[in-house]
Amino acid sequence: MKRTSNILIVAALAGGALLSACNKGAHNRKPGKVYVPDMYESRAYEFYNPRLASMKPVEGTVKRGSMLPYHLKAEDTAQANLTKNPLVLDEAGIKEGKRLFDIYCGVCHGQKLDGNGPLYKGGEGPYPAAPPSFLAGKLMGYTEGRIFHVITYGYNVMGSYASQLDMEQRWKVVAYIKSMQGGGTPAPAAPADSAAARPAAATVVAAK
Ligand code: HEC
Repeated sequence: MKRTSNILIVAALAGGALLSACNKGAHNRKPGKVYVPDMYESRAYEFYNPRLASMKPVEGTVKRGSMLPYHLKAEDTAQANLTKNPLVLDEAGIKEGKRLFDIYCGVCHGQKLDGNGPLYKGGEGPYPAAPPSFLAGKLMGYTEGRIFHVITYGYNVMGSYASQLDMEQRWKVVAYIKSMQGGGTPAPAAPADSAAARPAAATVVAAK
């Protein structure tokens, strides 16, 4: 008899412990003990401490894979005229240039590059200044470097597009414009093994 009651007491205690454990369940907000507390509550971190966060890269460093910075100032137009597109762009690059042009330039300069985009619409649009055509007049004589320069710094009423287009994108837009100025046929794509084509191009330059 004594033995049975002992067993009953033990069973009751165990059951109680089990029940109370279940009761705590998911809603218990005071678990009493915290496992690895420093993982629940991180150590104090001082935001905006220049030594820990928002650090600028060391001056003069260039992010891996990105282009060298463009050092010309807005007034350095003579040098800008001589700047060459550092990218060798294939057809896909020119196509991307068209996509970007249609988004960022076409609204004013027209997707046909004729200076008559929907914002200007022959003078009826909301934009008051007439954007020049790329297919006639002085812009036909603009070098790729000069067009890049205008996108970078803007020109008179036209604002800079340097914050919308990174350098690579600007050069793609320039290459697209230049390909259209050549009669609408995209510039010949860079062959996969461009070794074959490069010496020929060099000869052309030398012959000039
Ligand atoms: C909001 C309208 C607008 C947008 C968008 C715009 N332009 Fe212009 N752009 C103008 C106007 C207006 C002028 C003429 C400014 C002047 O002659 O005073 C101009 C002039 C130019 C010139 C000639 C500058 C010179 O030296 O005479 C170039 C090149 C040019 N834009 C390229 C671009 C390219 C490339 C883009 C796209 C990245 C672009 N523009 C986007 C309105 C715009």
